[in-house]
Amino acid sequence: MDRPVILTGLRANNDLHIGNYFGALLPIVDMANRRAGAYEVHLFVPDLHSFTTPIDHSLLQAQIMHNLKLFVAAGLPLDNPNVHIYRQSYIPAHSELAIILNSFTGMGQLGRMTQYKDKSGKLGDDIVSVGLFDYPVLMAADILLYGTQYVPVGDDQTQHLEFARDIAERMNSKFATELFIVPEPVAKQREFFGGATGQPKGLRIKDLIDPTKKMSKSDESGRGIIFLGDTPEAAVKKIMGATTDSLGAVNLDPDNQPGIANLLQIVALLSNQSLDTVAEMHQGQTEYGTFKKQVAEAVQAFLVDFQARLAAVDEVKLLEKLLASETKMNDVANETLLRVQAAVGLR
Ligand code: ADP
Ligand code: TRP
Repeated sequence: MDRPVILTGLRANNDLHIGNYFGALLPIVDMANRRAGAYEVHLFVPDLHSFTTPIDHSLLQAQIMHNLKLFVAAGLPLDNPNVHIYRQSYIPAHSELAIILNSFTGMGQLGRMTQYKDKSGKLGDDIVSVGLFDYPVLMAADILLYGTQYVPVGDDQTQHLEFARDIAERMNSKFATELFIVPEPVAKQREFFGGATGQPKGLRIKDLIDPTKKMSKSDESGRGIIFLGDTPEAAVKKIMGATTDSLGAVNLDPDNQPGIANLLQIVALLSNQSLDTVAEMHQGQTEYGTFKKQVAEAVQAFLVDFQARLAAVDEVKLLEKLLASETKMNDVANETLLRVQAAVGLR
């Protein structure tokens, strides 16, 4: 492929929430709409990554298809021939390249990965799987197979991106200087995407119940999370139950009023206005109940609209695009794989 490649994967082990939507999905969809002339844009579902920590496997298949629909409802242009959507496990070269890269990766380096340390520490009675340990190697294969230059991911994934650069450089110096295209360094990626990688303002929507931590789908109760699939009524209840403070005036003061700041942020995103503008509009409002009701109305309107777009997604067209992308990407990925197989002496 001649055009530079922008590639990212969104895991499908749960419904996405408004944090994932505004922080990850929308920027990527935006990019696909703006840049797919000069770049190839890949948005794929890393399905093999989704059970590196335990999940309910009976739900996985439906969740994968649902997430692909979310991409389309968010505005991903399926008609654009430079936009590619696919499932990782439908392109076996991802797994094969990961197995090869394993033999050139040190256990020490993987053991130092923050995500590995965090997630393995939280597993309780479950085993710490080799899959979780090897996660960055499969992710490197995802990136390197397509000669990717730009990888929009959140800050928590930049260490894995550095690893992909590292293994690419190591293989290039050991076997052939042009074996892999090395993705751009993180600083350059930030420049390219105009902020934190993939997230223009390092955006973090906070949990509604505990606004000192980020809204995260791994939170068990789900009470502090607005999922894209929540009924508008349930979402209204969650907003009305959001934790605030006892100061009794709406101000943009994230340190002292994190709950209020988070609600202002949500309104700003939903209404496509700057946070400062929204904060000014509500400045000094003293009735939290009234303020929350306004936020709840905005959330309700967003979900009603988004869910209508989701219901209108043309599933036949989506499936056609998916299968066409997977056929094409198998060709691209197999070409790289063959080069690597030849370099290491397998072919
Ligand atoms: P989660 O913590 O919900 O499981 P992931 O870690 O899988 O989310 O992240 C998926 C993508 O969504 C990443 O690009 C991440 O930066 C983004 N993201 C996750 N949570 C938020 C949030 N609360 N606000 C903004 N972006 C978020
Ligand atoms: N690890 C990423 C995440 O959890 C998902 C992912 C898998 C990915 N393979 C990738 C992202 C390749 C970018 C490129 O968010």
